[in-house]
Amino acid sequence: MKAKEIREKFIDFYKKRDHVFIPPAPLIPEQDSTLLFVNSGMFPLVPYLLGEEHPEGKRLVNFQKCFRSDDIEEIGDMRHTTLFEMLGNWSLGDYFKEEQIPWVFDFFVDEIGLDPKKIYISVYRGDKEIGIEKDSKAAQIWKDVFEKRGIASKEVDFAQEKGMQEGRIFYYSKDNWWSRSGPPESMPLQEPGGPDSEIFYDLGESLGHHKKSQWKNEPCHVNCDCGRFIEIGNSVFIQFIKTENGFEKLPKKNVDFGGGLERIAMISQGKTSIFETDLFLPIIRKIEEISSFKYRENVQSFEVIADHVKAATFIIGDEKGVSPSNKQQGYFVRRLLRRSMRHGRILNIDSKMWIKDVAREVIEIYKDVYPEIEKNKDFVYEMLEKEENAFNKMLEKGIKEFEKIENKEISGKKASFLYQTYGFPLELIEEMAKERGQKVDKEGFYEEMEKHKKLSRDLSAGVFKSGLADESENTVKYHTATHLLLAALREILGETVVQKGSNINRERLRFDFSFERKLSKEEISQVEEKVNDMIKKDLVVSKEEMDTKKALESGVVASFEEKYPSRVLVYTISDKDGNVFSREICSGPHVEKTSLLGKLIIKKEESSSSGVRRIKAILK
Ligand code: ALA
Repeated sequence: MKAKEIREKFIDFYKKRDHVFIPPAPLIPEQDSTLLFVNSGMFPLVPYLLGEEHPEGKRLVNFQKCFRSDDIEEIGDMRHTTLFEMLGNWSLGDYFKEEQIPWVFDFFVDEIGLDPKKIYISVYRGDKEIGIEKDSKAAQIWKDVFEKRGIASKEVDFAQEKGMQEGRIFYYSKDNWWSRSGPPESMPLQEPGGPDSEIFYDLGESLGHHKKSQWKNEPCHVNCDCGRFIEIGNSVFIQFIKTENGFEKLPKKNVDFGGGLERIAMISQGKTSIFETDLFLPIIRKIEEISSFKYRENVQSFEVIADHVKAATFIIGDEKGVSPSNKQQGYFVRRLLRRSMRHGRILNIDSKMWIKDVAREVIEIYKDVYPEIEKNKDFVYEMLEKEENAFNKMLEKGIKEFEKIENKEISGKKASFLYQTYGFPLELIEEMAKERGQKVDKEGFYEEMEKHKKLSRDLSAGVFKSGLADESENTVKYHTATHLLLAALREILGETVVQKGSNINRERLRFDFSFERKLSKEEISQVEEKVNDMIKKDLVVSKEEMDTKKALESGVVASFEEKYPSRVLVYTISDKDGNVFSREICSGPHVEKTSLLGKLIIKKEESSSSGVRRIKAILK
């Protein structure tokens, strides 16, 4: 059955059972959310699952585009993607397990034509700690359903340790709890969730990895992910909400069902990879055409490209479209595209600009179902081209840099350098390292990133950006140097000297200050010497937040008095005995101690405008 037919059958099946079709929601959440993307069909329905009345009633059905970044690392196993479609039906305080379980079974068996003997089920084991009991009720309903078709349906537990035990219905704990944010402990307060019951299909022992090697040190069972069993649907019995006092019952019991369209299509179409279904095949063919490989020769690279370009096309082309950037959703798009381009190289894709060709196939497959991507296609192509162009340039340089690293472990600093300078996302660095038999110090990378984040937070927290071109280490050094420079100028030329402006980047500082005449050679070397003295003294830079009035009264150096907010940051540069050399209102960032600066050399002193002089200086 083609994917289109499966979608239609599902909608019809539930329409016949009094459900109303609701259109799919945008991938970018409508409301503020802790999650960046709609990751399930229930996502846009949260208010109604919590008790609000839905205008279309209590029984709803749809299909929904979803994006799950968590699954990015699973890609390459023929069944995972970041972007997928979920078939969904909901009861908002209407029917419950008694109806849902037989319906979903009938749908799979009678409508899709799955072999009922190959269907296996999991249900919730219960958890005393959170006060939620074992779902024997769901298990009983499943037993009845199987028995009606003359299929044995033994209930078993502890499959992780004991394997299949000829069971049909399996109890699990965390694996059978569902919320948008995962198991009970990771849910934020006020989030709804509940026990669920998953449906698996047996693809046959030959697809499992158990025969080849010991898999995860577990015997094979429905949830072991070895490749033999595949989850195709999940009925969540949403009836709890997490509160400060633990899990409380929602006013109404709800059903939230999600079925994986790509996987259902895979089984129905007799394939062993979702990438060989009609939802992917034209994309795969296109990649084969522009590369020198066949899909089965490099499953991972094909799947990464096919999935990532599809996801990027959907996110950029969404009703609430997002373009590649360094923030939030935009950053995911960037990562998806950069990773695709890297895999494009692995597949020897010659063309420099090929992403758009793949995206065109995506739009062709989905334009009738998700018309927004067709409508926004010019924007999509434009963004893809722009990103591809920019990253192509960086990629070449970055790969060269990467190849210079000979250590077995890539340090956090180095990884963060590759990230900052060449835009290599961490997973790209890890992947490249793995190919070269290297490891990455991830911990170190995150520490470096944290430092970097703090710097940029400081930088953007203040009203002024202190004239800094960026927040790199070098630029920050130059920033601290300007404070020393101003202090030196005031000492040599007098306290009438105030700052008139500055412009700082990683290569030099430019500093404007009030003074009526040209400085003599002697004055310039005095200033230089004074600054270098302070650097050598290894003075400490400290910062405090202060009331602006108090700060000004205490005589700190301020340059733009009229613009200050009511509270400001004051940076003090002093020696260990507390002797102050510089004290300025400033939003930072700065280095911690002056010895990091090296040596200041004044390159030029000139007029900037009437009554204003300009110094250009470098640090050596
Ligand atoms: N919301 C449920 C899931 O995503 C159905 O598995």
